[in-house]
Amino acid sequence: MFRTHTCNALHLDNVGEEVTLSGWVHRRRDHGGLVFIDLRDRWGLTQIVFDPDTNTDMHNLAQTLRNEYVIQVTGLVRARPEGQANPNLETGDIEIEGRSLNILNKANTPPFDINKETPVDEMIRLKYRYLDLRRERMQRNIVLRHEVVRYIRNFLSDVDFVEVETPILFKTTPEGARDYLVPSRVHAGQFYALPQSPQQLKQLLMVAGYDRYFQIARCFRDEDQRGDRQPEFTQLDVEMSFVDQTDILDITERLMIGLVETMSEAQIMHKPFPRLSYNDVMDRYGRDNPDIRFGMELSDISALVANSDFKVFSGTVSSGGLVKGIKAKGLGGYSRKQLDELTDYVKVFGAKGLAWLVVDESDEGPVAGRSSFAKFLSTDEVASIIDQLEGEPGDLLLFVADKPAVANESMGRLRLELGDRLGLRDDNILAFCWVIDFPFLMWNEDEKRWDPSHHLFTAPVDEDIPLLDSDPGQARGKQHDLVLNGNEIAGGSVRIHQRELQEKVFGLIGLELEHAKKQFGHMLEAFEFGTPPHGGIASGIDRLVMLLAGEPNIREVIAFPKSQSAADLMAGAPTEVTEQQLKELHIKLR
Ligand code: AMO
Ligand code: AMP
Repeated sequence: MFRTHTCNALHLDNVGEEVTLSGWVHRRRDHGGLVFIDLRDRWGLTQIVFDPDTNTDMHNLAQTLRNEYVIQVTGLVRARPEGQANPNLETGDIEIEGRSLNILNKANTPPFDINKETPVDEMIRLKYRYLDLRRERMQRNIVLRHEVVRYIRNFLSDVDFVEVETPILFKTTPEGARDYLVPSRVHAGQFYALPQSPQQLKQLLMVAGYDRYFQIARCFRDEDQRGDRQPEFTQLDVEMSFVDQTDILDITERLMIGLVETMSEAQIMHKPFPRLSYNDVMDRYGRDNPDIRFGMELSDISALVANSDFKVFSGTVSSGGLVKGIKAKGLGGYSRKQLDELTDYVKVFGAKGLAWLVVDESDEGPVAGRSSFAKFLSTDEVASIIDQLEGEPGDLLLFVADKPAVANESMGRLRLELGDRLGLRDDNILAFCWVIDFPFLMWNEDEKRWDPSHHLFTAPVDEDIPLLDSDPGQARGKQHDLVLNGNEIAGGSVRIHQRELQEKVFGLIGLELEHAKKQFGHMLEAFEFGTPPHGGIASGIDRLVMLLAGEPNIREVIAFPKSQSAADLMAGAPTEVTEQQLKELHIKLR
């Protein structure tokens, strides 16, 4: 038997017992002949004391212990001497008087401290991930992740959902990223694709009658990495039959509220979650994943400046662009240098400049003070702008004029940046919102055709179906995204369940029927065998856990993540393979 207790289990009521513990040497201290060891396992720490008077050989051996050695200790539980208790430790009232010591394994000096939260280069953390995972922060995150998944499984099982596994070796899926391909040995020249999501399979499960399906599903997308993206990630994938959009939102919302309230100290800002239309959030926040923890909404001043003499503004409006502004409360004291910094910030997102105006005090109320553009406008125009943005003396008003996409993106980002600077993005607040009524299609300028704004199987809003013929760009889709503190944590839709409508959509996006049949023939065929109306959603588990853990990126909540360049730095993947393997797969490298 390796142990009688874990390293987090012993208290004053165990005093006098002989116990055996096993674990890692977290820390060793030598004091006046005594050797103190903090022994660590997954559950916690226990202090062991080796006294030369008890057993000289054992004490000598204890002096050879180094951090991360794996040891087994038998000894007597005793109360720590007066004043020596450690209230921060579960086992802080006791210590073990070592009677015997067994070194189970030695350890090399780790490349970074396991027992301290010091900053370590991420490349080194990923190379020695098994050591990084020993650290307290990672252990907390990985266990939290387990608790989240367990909560989800229990919640959904309790309301009659069935978990079904779907294949990893499959066929291309329509999420819009690049596929990871796996060459077939048996079928020369043919490839499986790893699923970007179980989208088709969960819809086929609805055809098969498995109403209320879920899966904790691995998804694979070959796209550029970011802090909130990994090439393989995990979704909670859900699909339901005989539902409309509100049914899907309601159950997801119940799950999220229950989960957060069980798992986190943070406060949910709005219950029920606000349901906002795409047009509304683009207008007010410039992004379809708004952070609604704080106000500071964007203001569209296009109409006020359409006829002004300031060509940057009026010219933009006359060519179909927007002029959007934001009020930075109390930042009117910003220096020229700080204003230039903000200008550089919006330029990263494509803006050509940033027009600014400081609001000053006057007898008649707020007026323009320092400004990069007020001189080009009439007094009335300036007054109406200050009025619309509700500028008060001491405020800084900022504007970008550009194509709608650029004006929205750059101002939306600027809003987040200002929110950070003003300390308005409080991590103890969780602000969820739904975004619905997305455009059904998006114009693909490069290929001069419509793209589905979600995926091919999303249904248009019923009353907008006639628009598919007359004005496709105006049609809305039955799509829904769930956003948490500015992060898209879930997305889904009500699906098309009739073949005619599906074929019409293929036609609209310029997918030749023959080609569609080759790629999705099984779906079209299935739709002819009695398909129920259905819909669903998928939540990004990694992103959700990241936010619950208060971590800045999803790598911190994934046991073995890939690096920015999609590599596994620990095992060294991807790698070259042997000539023989390639030959079996009928592959010749160029
Ligand atoms: P979608 O593509 O919106 O929808 O994905 C659902 C959620 O998965 C998360 N996510 C990611 N997380 C980490 N790394 C990535 N590369 C990544 N990509 C997506 C996001 C996102 O909201 N089949 C549809 C769902 C449906 O229609 O039911 C789908 O996959 O949090
Ligand atoms: P200029 O006339 O070039 O001196 O520009 C006057 C102000 O307008 C400067 O603060 C510029 O940064 C700003 N500006 C230029 N182009 C834009 C634009 N597209 N949107 C917002 N401000 C701009």
